[in-house]
Amino acid sequence: MLSGNLLKTDAPIDHDGKGENFAPTDLLATALGTCFLTVMGITAKHKGWKLGEMSIEVTKTMTSEGPRKIKAIALQIAMPADLSPEQLKVLQGATRDCPVLRNLEGSINVIVNWTSKKRSSQISLSFLPIKVFRETPKVTFFEAGVTGSNGSDVVIHKGRAISPPNDEDYEQYYVHTHQIDHNLVLEGKRTFTLLNPEWDEPHHVIYLNQKMGALQIPIGTYHRSVSGSKGSMVLNQAVRDENFDASKEFVPVSLRERPDLKAAKAVDPVYWIWEAGHIKRTNVNSLLVTTQ
Ligand SMILES: [Fe+2]
Repeated sequence: MLSGNLLKTDAPIDHDGKGENFAPTDLLATALGTCFLTVMGITAKHKGWKLGEMSIEVTKTMTSEGPRKIKAIALQIAMPADLSPEQLKVLQGATRDCPVLRNLEGSINVIVNWTSKKRSSQISLSFLPIKVFRETPKVTFFEAGVTGSNGSDVVIHKGRAISPPNDEDYEQYYVHTHQIDHNLVLEGKRTFTLLNPEWDEPHHVIYLNQKMGALQIPIGTYHRSVSGSKGSMVLNQAVRDENFDASKEFVPVSLRERPDLKAAKAVDPVYWIWEAGHIKRTNVNSLLVTTQ
């Protein structure tokens, strides 16, 4: 290379490598993404535009049968929020001049999804940590209290279960107006789905385990949870205000008559997972990359 930089590569884990560096096909997919950014940068320079931060996420899909090769490359491009519609159109048009695209078109399915950085106000969920006093091979002893909690319930799923249950083909959700939930997994794993049409990121999926602590569910947030075949046990330590009325707080809401919730559900979710001892938020694209 002219720069003298060294680029290491490796075969992927599923193809006789250690997966410790970029696979050759990663470089090909990345070349397409960086080519898009480069041609837009050159175009903006020629026009005399100051271009804010752009980012691009590249997802590569390999063929699952037949000769091994890249089947599709998906580009999720987040453009600066302050661009006018005309500027955006010019920059998007410029990507047609990307030489890497010219080489790949016709042999690889290229999917381009444009978004605006406007949607980057990230929702942060709260997980109240538990304090483990003592842990021996078969014993875990921890403090599980939530400050201010004035109502507790335990929800046990014996095997695969959903709370609240579906309304035929439609999912149902709970929503509270006078109660904040704090859900702590005592046993097993529980997947929570949160929908909140008021949020910039209205759809969240949380793969909750005990180590993540108690998931706080804010007022006005629609929520449901499911267990796998082994079931799970969850302790909810709620904080209720003086207007709490049990007869009104646990009425399931069906997606059947709620286009706003259906729209929230249709947005790509933010995933919350436990990875290497930390709670990690991730989006659908990076999740796809790690599972390929
Ligand atoms: Fe709840």
